[in-house]
Amino acid sequence: MKKALIITLTFAVALMFVLTVAAAPTAVGAEKCKMCHKLQYESWAASKHAAATPKVECETCHGPGSDYMKMSVMKDVAAAKAAGLILPDKAACGKCHGKGKVPAMTDALFAKVHAHKAK
Ligand code: HEC
Ligand code: HEC
Ligand code: HEC
Repeated sequence: MKKALIITLTFAVALMFVLTVAAAPTAVGAEKCKMCHKLQYESWAASKHAAATPKVECETCHGPGSDYMKMSVMKDVAAAKAAGLILPDKAACGKCHGKGKVPAMTDALFAKVHAHKAK
């Protein structure tokens, strides 16, 4: 009886481990990104994306960061991409831009996605 319980518990713990490892990455929030990307954070915080409802977060564009935000992963772009980092192209902006009141995407607008790069 006791043995059966131990086997069941061991199995349950192993299953939880597998589920945790296999879980999809989750969003960590802009404050976490700020620790290492202060410049991008500040230009984003002053942008229309941060003022929009709902907010267009770092991770709306760059993908949920729980798996790529660690320094050891982030400093290797290939590893970061494998862990879910997205470097969005113009097509990705089209999910919102050109619809409703959101202006259509142009090369000029694309270049301003991070305000610190805008002239
Ligand atoms: C522990 C520090 C750290 C954290 C936290 C962090 N990053 Fe990074 N990130 C880096 C480093 C280091 C690089 C590579 C050098 C660089 O471009 O600054 C990088 C690169 C990037 C790049 C550019 C990749 C490329 O080559 O074009 C993006 C985009 C990015 N990070 C987004 C994010 C987002 C979004 C978050 C929050 C979810 C985040 N980072 C959190 C350290 C971090
Ligand atoms: C609307 C989509 C969008 C949002 C929101 C956004 N980014 Fe980006 N990000 C981009 C694009 C597109 C690029 C590539 C820009 C380029 O090539 O000029 C980029 C580039 C970067 C880079 C590479 C270095 C640089 O300055 O180009 C980092 C780091 C980064 N973003 C971090 C962040 C962080 C941190 C946030 C939130 C505080 C954020 N991004 C919010 C779309 C976005
Ligand atoms: C989830 C929706 C969403 C996505 C994805 C998105 N945006 Fe936006 N964007 C908005 C909203 C909403 C506004 C604010 C529109 C307004 O209030 O005028 C905005 C505004 C902007 C502005 C400011 C325009 C101005 O008139 O000052 C720029 C620049 C911009 N987006 C660039 C980008 C780029 C580049 C991408 C893709 C890499 C992108 N956005 C992806 C929703 C989005």
